[in-house]
Parts: sequence; structure tokens; C-alpha cells
Amino acid sequence: MTEQEFRPKIVGFLCNWCAYAGADLAGVSRLQYPPNVRIIRVMCSGRIDPTFVFEAFKDGADGVLVAGCHLPSDCHYLSGNFKAQRRVMLTKKVLQQFGIEPERLRIEWVSASEGDRFASVMKDMVQVIKKLGPSPLKNGGEKL
Ligand code: FES
Repeated sequence: MTEQEFRPKIVGFLCNWCAYAGADLAGVSRLQYPPNVRIIRVMCSGRIDPTFVFEAFKDGADGVLVAGCHLPSDCHYLSGNFKAQRRVMLTKKVLQQFGIEPERLRIEWVSASEGDRFASVMKDMVQVIKKLGPSPLKNGGEKL
């Protein structure tokens, strides 16, 4: 599979109050960004359990995005974004142990008014994952 043919599949866990609204704004504003992300809306980025990330990779994702409200104080549940940041840092270490490049997991802060930021995060993430190639967990069976 050449780099041009490879279309990374990205699972995006977006918090309801900021990142999801930012993604929605990107769509409503008709901003161009790669259609590679499957969005899962959660109430807060602090809800993201590392097992969600492992499941996404197990089910064929090439990359996982966790996006929430800006640090330090925009989280609607006070400290969910801090928890998410710590969990993502630890999850990256575990992924590395399994031979999955930590760059495949990314955490970003996107407010409800930052549709352009969401679009640029997606563009950049797709480029990074394209360079890495398909997930090492993929063995021909694509479930997404
Ligand atoms: S509500 Fe958005 S990160 Fe907590």
C-alpha cells in the first residue's frame, strides 16, 4: 500500500461542550478537512478510559484523537481535561510497549468557537499518521 493510497482511519473522542461543538462549527462553516475521523461524542474528555483507546486500535484505527476543552479552566466538569491529559500520557507509554507508535494517540484542546483549529488538527493528524503508515495491529482485516 503506497502512502498516497493509505487513508488513515482516525477515531476521535470529542467532549460535548468544546471539541464536539468545534467540530460541528467546522462542518457548519464548511471548512475543508480530511474526512478520516469517526467522531464519538463523550460528555467530557475525562470520560476517556484508556481501554477506549485500546479498543479503537484493536478494531482497526490508525490513530486516536482525544479532544476537549482548553486547559486549565474550560472543562465543564472542572478537572476532566487534566485527567484526560494524564491518562493520554500514560496510555502512550502502554501503546509503545505494544509496538504502537505513541504519535498515533493525540490529545488536543479545541473550544466551541475554534472550528478552524479542529480542521487544522485533523489535517495535521492525518499527515502524521500517513507518514507512520497503517497501524501495526492491522493484519488485513479492517473493521471500521
Ligand atoms: S467538558 Fe470538555 S473536557 Fe471536560
